[in-house]
Amino acid sequence: MSLLDYDAINLAEKDLQYGHEFLREMREQHNLSFVSANVYETATGKLFAKPHIIKKINGWKVGIFGVTMEERAARMVPPETGFEIRDPVAAAKNQVQTLKQECDLIIGLVHVGINNSIQLVEQVEGIDIIISGHFGTHLRKPHRVGDTVVMQPGSKGKYLGQLDFQLPSDGKSNVYGKTVALNSKISDDAELARLVKEYDEEVLLTFPLESPKAKTQYSLFSQRACITCHFKQHNQWRATLHSHAWETLVEEKQAHNPECQKCHTTMSGEPNGFTRLAETPDLVSVQCAECHRPVAKDMATHINRFRGRGRSTNGETNGATKDFKPITEETCRKCHNEENTPHFDYAEFRAKITH
Ligand code: HEC
Ligand code: HEC
Ligand code: HEC
Ligand code: HEC
Repeated sequence: MSLLDYDAINLAEKDLQYGHEFLREMREQHNLSFVSANVYETATGKLFAKPHIIKKINGWKVGIFGVTMEERAARMVPPETGFEIRDPVAAAKNQVQTLKQECDLIIGLVHVGINNSIQLVEQVEGIDIIISGHFGTHLRKPHRVGDTVVMQPGSKGKYLGQLDFQLPSDGKSNVYGKTVALNSKISDDAELARLVKEYDEEVLLTFPLESPKAKTQYSLFSQRACITCHFKQHNQWRATLHSHAWETLVEEKQAHNPECQKCHTTMSGEPNGFTRLAETPDLVSVQCAECHRPVAKDMATHINRFRGRGRSTNGETNGATKDFKPITEETCRKCHNEENTPHFDYAEFRAKITH
């Protein structure tokens, strides 16, 4: 955080979970500029951070305040952390009242999710720019609500939001904005790359990549259990990247990482699903059973129904067995979320994988 050199850092539930002692220590050690107008210390009843800062930029006075979501934090931030979160709307109103006395521009760092941010703009007059957070939503362009510009450039440092704001002496202000994907086209900062490498090494030590144990019996949830009867579908699946998802992690040297395994394996963490490479080597990559969930607890019901009857008709009786749950957009959204596939279009993506 301190290497990124932020002017102001808003606090939200995932920061607050660390507890007030840890955050205080980090703030002092690394000189972090936390701003929050609705996070209180339970013990003292006082605000934990500055409610706002005022910065002079090109001769303009810019006020920046922060608020976070009340209900969400109440569920996710237990009392032991020593924090209490109060109404963000009241806090935002209060900040705007104070800041408008002396500032030319007011920026709200608002961690309430995009829909609530838009609602907040309607309830609190006078905010020029809202930098919105939560849910990892990614708005590719700034969104206008009345005179306010709302921006939410994704999460986890994958995108950089850029807003160019012109303040004319009279009339309406002009805003140009975009998000820049921080992909391989933009070179890494050497110091940050070193930190990421250090972290990767730590993860590898904590979760070493085990070698797969030779299995005499494979799981019925594995693609190998389907190939004999569903040759055509299997062939098509082989040609999609779903069958290559594990190799992608290997190429990235991240196959040991449980965080990545979640979406690059089959039914990760669920009963009959992928657990660890050593235990479930036949459930790596995104296989048939990830999309085709049997209605029964096991796959045996389906397979036994047709055992000995030869090859399937390859789909002419599609859906006829009623052995599987329907596939919907939700099936895909588990992995193709806002963060990984911001451009997800169900019809278009489904067409690419249908056998
Ligand atoms: C012993 C043969 C056999 C095996 C093994 C088998 N199936 Fe099937 N499957 C069939 C037949 C026959 C049908 C009926 C439709 C058809 O004729 O194509 C069918 C239908 C389906 C359907 C279509 C939906 C439906 O309810 O009709 C899906 C999805 C399916 N199988 C998935 C799988 C998966 C996933 C596996 C591996 C875990 C698998 N099957 C293993 C024979 C088999
Ligand atoms: C368990 C996680 C997971 C689920 C569920 C999932 N996907 Fe994927 N999908 C991935 C991953 C991971 C990749 C990229 C693999 C790679 O590049 O190695 C991918 C890639 C794709 C691609 C690009 C494939 C290609 O060959 O060009 C399409 C299209 C796609 N998915 C569609 C879907 C659809 C439609 C659904 C739902 C019916 C779905 N996916 C469900 C994880 C998932
Ligand atoms: C929440 C699910 C999810 C998690 C967790 C996840 N991925 Fe993926 N990953 C996907 C999906 C979905 C795609 C396909 C993206 C697309 O093309 O739409 C993908 C694609 C990829 C790709 C190929 C496309 C690209 O962006 O270059 C790589 C590499 C990758 N993932 C690496 C990782 C690594 C490394 C991790 C762990 C740090 C990880 N993934 C964690 C879902 C996930
Ligand atoms: C990313 C999701 C996904 C994966 C992975 C997947 N399928 Fe499917 N499959 C679908 C969709 C979508 C359909 C279209 C029918 C539906 O909506 O149920 C389908 C249809 C089928 C059908 C019905 C006949 C047909 O061709 O339309 C069979 C059989 C089938 N799949 C077998 C398999 C087998 C075997 C595998 C693994 C080798 C597999 N599928 C992997 C999504 C998937």
